[in-house]
Amino acid sequence: MTISSKSQAYIDRLKPAFIGLDTTYPLADGRTTRRIYLDSTASTLMFRPAHDAVEAYYRHYANTHSLLHFSAKISTELYHWAHERILHFLHADPQDYACFFTGSGATAGMNRMARVFRDFRPDRDTVLVSLMEHHSNDLPHRKHAGQVIHTPLDNHDGQPGCIRMDALEQTLRENRDRINYVAVTGVSNVTGIINPIYRVAELAHRFGALVLVDGAQMVAHLPVFISNPDHPEQNLDAFVFSGHKTYVPGSPGVVICRKDILRAIEPEEVGGGMVERVFVDRYLITDKFPDREEAGTPNIPGAIGLATALDILDRVGMDVLYEEESDLISYALEQMKTIPTVMVYGETNMNICPRAASISFNIYGLDHGFTAAVLNDYHNIAVRNECFCAHPYVEEMIKDDIPAELHKKENILSLRAKLKSGMVRASFGLYNTREDVDSLVNALRDISDHRETYQALYTVDEDGNYRHTSFHPVLGQLFSIHKLVDSVFE
Ligand SMILES: Cc1ncc(COP(=O)(O)O)c(C=O)c1O
Repeated sequence: MTISSKSQAYIDRLKPAFIGLDTTYPLADGRTTRRIYLDSTASTLMFRPAHDAVEAYYRHYANTHSLLHFSAKISTELYHWAHERILHFLHADPQDYACFFTGSGATAGMNRMARVFRDFRPDRDTVLVSLMEHHSNDLPHRKHAGQVIHTPLDNHDGQPGCIRMDALEQTLRENRDRINYVAVTGVSNVTGIINPIYRVAELAHRFGALVLVDGAQMVAHLPVFISNPDHPEQNLDAFVFSGHKTYVPGSPGVVICRKDILRAIEPEEVGGGMVERVFVDRYLITDKFPDREEAGTPNIPGAIGLATALDILDRVGMDVLYEEESDLISYALEQMKTIPTVMVYGETNMNICPRAASISFNIYGLDHGFTAAVLNDYHNIAVRNECFCAHPYVEEMIKDDIPAELHKKENILSLRAKLKSGMVRASFGLYNTREDVDSLVNALRDISDHRETYQALYTVDEDGNYRHTSFHPVLGQLFSIHKLVDSVFE
């Protein structure tokens, strides 16, 4: 797909429209440079137009449970619009699907859906979960929904790919009367590998199982089709994502679920807002969505900010934004492969295994914590390291290489690091550019080539955290909320 000049002009306009792209920090070598943010898989930066829209809305802020004053009406209408906008963005038919907000990110949504599906079909006690899941799409099912069976991934010369469809089919067939649902991520938060979720849905439905998709890493990066009128067998039964990974920090977690499933059981959360009448001995639950699923006062500004961000992304088109990001990710993979000491995890051929957002790697012989610390302290590149809340997946990938390499190097840094093995993850958002990739690649080459020099500058503590021997920036000097509070009284 070639990107039209109109779409390219929109992209060029949006790329710089994020808060924090000009943040600077002083570095260990005395320079002060612009931060390069490569940690979007953890949380994306704030989209400025969404921020500005919410700031403007604050003049009208009021509780949506109030009814008759102007601000309550504006808030209620906008909050209602936010749900509709999200359903539309994700191609979910509003006749069949409800959208509701859930508090703390995708994790709250996953816990909720595990309980909903359990109560919807209590006769089915088994859940299938892929081996690449974030803990948030594994532990809630273990705790609430019964027995979890982990299904394997494709193997490409020792590197994992997507969920393995033949193994999934076999497990579904062998346990067809017991499996309640399949819980699978749309995009891995470690390797960025994209799963064939619509084929998973079709397969699961054939065997009577429901499908719950973890969309935490999807919504900001690629188009989502929750319902597909041409192929209803591929419809997703429930979908969960996070606003803070979709360019609106502070916005709540979101669930989209089939209404008939929600209607069949009592809502998992009860309280104000979800009832028609309450008597001392009973209560009548409202039929209305989303009210039924949203007990308590919701995060109104967060929901409106998120819907605003999605509205803007939709004007460009997620297919276009996906194309643009794929180009950046394949450029990054290509460039990283030019450094012989860099090991990228997961299948890297994007024709075989498409990816979005994340690339996880290590420099041979160096601990992930050390690489991440030097990237920060000397190159002002913000990345995440360790196991990214996906221990089984990460441990499977690193078991053969890094510990063995570290074992050869009998220095104290690497011995300590062995206790806490993991990876480094560079992850991308709409604001990242080829220049950011070049900075990362140059930094990795520098760290690899000058490893002994850098190693002499660090110590590692009992917890495996790397500390520079002489560079200890005072965080309060980089940003102080107290100074802002003081300024109120100056
Ligand atoms: C794939 C995936 N699922 C779930 C989560 C949990 O999301 P949250 O932190 O919004 O609860 C994350 C967070 O990194 C994730 O990447």
